Amino acid sequence: MNQPHSALDTALKHAMRLSGQHLYAGRLQAPLGGKTFPVSSPATRQPVGMAADGDERDVTAAVDAAVAAKSDWAAMSPRARGQILQKAAASLAEHTEEIATMLALETGKAIRTESRVEANVLADCFEFYGGLGSELKGETIPFAPNMLVFTQREPIGVVAVILPWNAPLMLMAFKIAPALVAGNTVVIKSAEEAPLSTLFVVDLLNRTLPPGTINILSGFGPTCGGPLIADPRIGKVTFTGSVETGKIIARAAADRLIPATLELGGKSPMIVMEDADLERAVAGAVAGMRFTRQGQSCTAASRMFVHRSLCEEFVARMSNVVNAMVMGDPLDERTDIGTIISAAQLDRVRSYVDIGRQMPGVQTLQLSSMPEASELKDGFFVQPTVFVGVSNDDRLAREEIFGPVTCVIPFDDYEEVISMANDSDYGLAATIWTKDLRRALDATQRLQAGFVQVNQNIVAQPGLSYGGIKLSGLGKEASMEAMLDHFTQKKTVLISRE
Ligand code: NAI
Ligand code: MG
Repeated sequence: MNQPHSALDTALKHAMRLSGQHLYAGRLQAPLGGKTFPVSSPATRQPVGMAADGDERDVTAAVDAAVAAKSDWAAMSPRARGQILQKAAASLAEHTEEIATMLALETGKAIRTESRVEANVLADCFEFYGGLGSELKGETIPFAPNMLVFTQREPIGVVAVILPWNAPLMLMAFKIAPALVAGNTVVIKSAEEAPLSTLFVVDLLNRTLPPGTINILSGFGPTCGGPLIADPRIGKVTFTGSVETGKIIARAAADRLIPATLELGGKSPMIVMEDADLERAVAGAVAGMRFTRQGQSCTAASRMFVHRSLCEEFVARMSNVVNAMVMGDPLDERTDIGTIISAAQLDRVRSYVDIGRQMPGVQTLQLSSMPEASELKDGFFVQPTVFVGVSNDDRLAREEIFGPVTCVIPFDDYEEVISMANDSDYGLAATIWTKDLRRALDATQRLQAGFVQVNQNIVAQPGLSYGGIKLSGLGKEASMEAMLDHFTQKKTVLISRE
C-alpha cells in the first residue's frame, strides 16, 4: 500500500475514534445533551464521522476544566511552558500527514497545495511561540529615586477561541499558541464545517499539555459559541470569521467588558502598475487569490487593479495559468484545486457568479474544468471565475465573496488607483507591483490595510503581525507583539524604599 492510502486509513480511524466527542479536562467527553451531527467530505459527500453538538452544559464543563487548570499553568515559568509547546510542536510535526489528510477529508482542501502546507504551518507556529516564553517581560520605570517601579505581564485567565473553517488549523495555532505560552488556558469552539481536524490536533496537543489547559468543543454558533463567550469566567475572546458574527461577538464582549481580537473579512486590492514584472505579478495574482483554496481566504486578492496597457495580457496569462490547474479529488496528489466547504457557501458563490454574468459590459471567464470522476459529481466544486471590466462600485468589487471569484479592474492613473484601492469597507491586505521604488514606498504609506506587500504576495507567517483595519477587524495575530498585546494584562507595581 502506498503512503497516501495508509494516511487515509489512519485518518479515518482517528475520525471514528473522535466521532461525537468534545475534549476537555484532559480527555474525550461525550456531549452532555447527547446530540451529534454528521461530518462528510465536501468532495465525495461520503461520511467522515460525527461531531458533538455542544450546548451550554458542555460549555460550563469545559470552562470548569480550564479554570481548574489555570493556576498551575500560570505558575509555571514561561520558558517551561514554551518548552512544553515545542515538545507539542514536535509531535504535530510527526503527524503532519494524518493531520493534513483529515483536513483534506473534511474541508475539501487539496492535500498537496493546501492541507499539507497548513499542517506544517500549524507545527511551525507552536515551535515559534514556544521560543517566546522568556519574552513575556515588563519594564522598569525610573519614576522616583525612592521607589522601584516596574510593570509585569500576567496571563488573562481563560481565553475563548471561536474558529472558522477556511484555515482552521493555522488559525487555531495563531490563537492558542500565544495564549498558552502567555500562561492562559483555552476553550476552543471549532467551526461546524471543520470539527474533526481541529479535535484531532487538540487530542495530540493534549498528550503533552497538562489536562485542562487546552479544551475544545464542537457545535453551532448560537448554541455553543454564544454560551461560551457569555460565560462569566472567560477573560478574553479571539475570533476569526464573518463581519456579522464578529459584531455579535464584539457586543457580547462589550457586555462583559472583556477584550476581543477579531479577524474578519477582506476585499484585498492588488495593484499592477504599468512597469510591473508581468510574469511575477501573474504568479502573485494566482497565489494571492488562493485559487488552490477555492478562494476561501480573508486575504484573497479579490480586486485586481491592472494598468489598462497590461490588462489584456495580464488576464490572458492568468487565465493560462489557472486553466492548467487541476480541479479534483482533494486527496489526490495531482490535484491543485479542491472544493468549496459546503452547499451553503457554494450557493453563495454561485449567486455572485450569476450577478457578474448578467452585468452588461463585463467579461466572465470560467477557468480550469470541473472534475469528471463520477464519485465527485455531487462535490462542491466551482470553476475559478474572473470578471473583467467590473467597476470598483459594483457589488462584486465591494462584498466579500469568499470563493474563487476575482475582479479585474483596469485603471489609467496612479492617484486614481490608490483611491479606488482604499475605497472599500475592508482593510486587511494589499499589494502593489512596480519597479519604481518611490512609488512603491508611497503606496505602502497610503494603502489602508494591515498587511501591505510590494512585488510579492506571501501568506501570513509566524513572526509577522497580521490583522486588519476598518471592517477587517481589531487586533493582530501571529507575532510576538500579538502575544504580548492580546494575551497578557499588564500590572504596574510601585515599591517604596522608605
Ligand atoms: P461565521 O462568522 O458565522 O462563523 C465563524 C465561527 O463563528 C464559527 O465557529 C461559528 O460557529 C461561530 N459563530 C457563528 N455565530 C455565532 C454566535 N452567534 N456566537 C458565537 N459564535 C458564533 O462564518 P460562516 O457562517 O462560516 O461564513 C459566512 C461568511 O463569513 C463567509 O462566506 C465568509 O465571507 C465569511 N468568513 C470569513 C472568514 C475569515 O477568514 N475572515 C472565515 C469564515 C467565514
Ligand atoms: Mg455564520
